[in-house]
Amino acid sequence: MTVRAVLRLGDFRLREMAQPVKDLGTPQLLELCSDLKDTMEALSGAGLAAPQIGVSSRVVIFGGGGPNPRYPDALPVPLTLLINPELTPIGEGRSLGWEGCLSVPGLRGQVERCNRLRYCGWTPEGEWLERSVEGFHARVVQHECDHLDGVLFPDRLHTPQAFGFIPELEQSGMIPMVPS
Ligand code: NI
Repeated sequence: MTVRAVLRLGDFRLREMAQPVKDLGTPQLLELCSDLKDTMEALSGAGLAAPQIGVSSRVVIFGGGGPNPRYPDALPVPLTLLINPELTPIGEGRSLGWEGCLSVPGLRGQVERCNRLRYCGWTPEGEWLERSVEGFHARVVQHECDHLDGVLFPDRLHTPQAFGFIPELEQSGMIPMVPS
């Protein structure tokens, strides 16, 4: 069980383009995946990308846990580790949603994302994975894959006014009250 420190906004390592993984199934890759899982779960994150723990590799993890209280109608997202992921939007539909990030603790911002997409990539064990998803699942994947290109959600704010600290946004009625 290794919970790694999560880099925060301002650290230059979050801004680098992460490198593709060349070899699947190596001990280093499996250790990275295990650290990502332990860290995401310890911090109750919806997802995490390798650059957030200071590793410049194209690896993301997301999902697991129960239904998200912020998206009570969303289908649960299966716990997924994805290596060298690629995203392809399906259709033109886009929608706004509130996002947070373990690298931007305590803040939420409203971001526009595409509603539906197909994603593919490798699992740590070397299996090819392809899924078509929508809604919250699609949003989480877009957020995590952005990290691999050095992009954080504040870069994509719909408007600077829809961005702030969680308690203040709750008090202002901009996001629903969620038990922390
Ligand atoms: Ni994030």
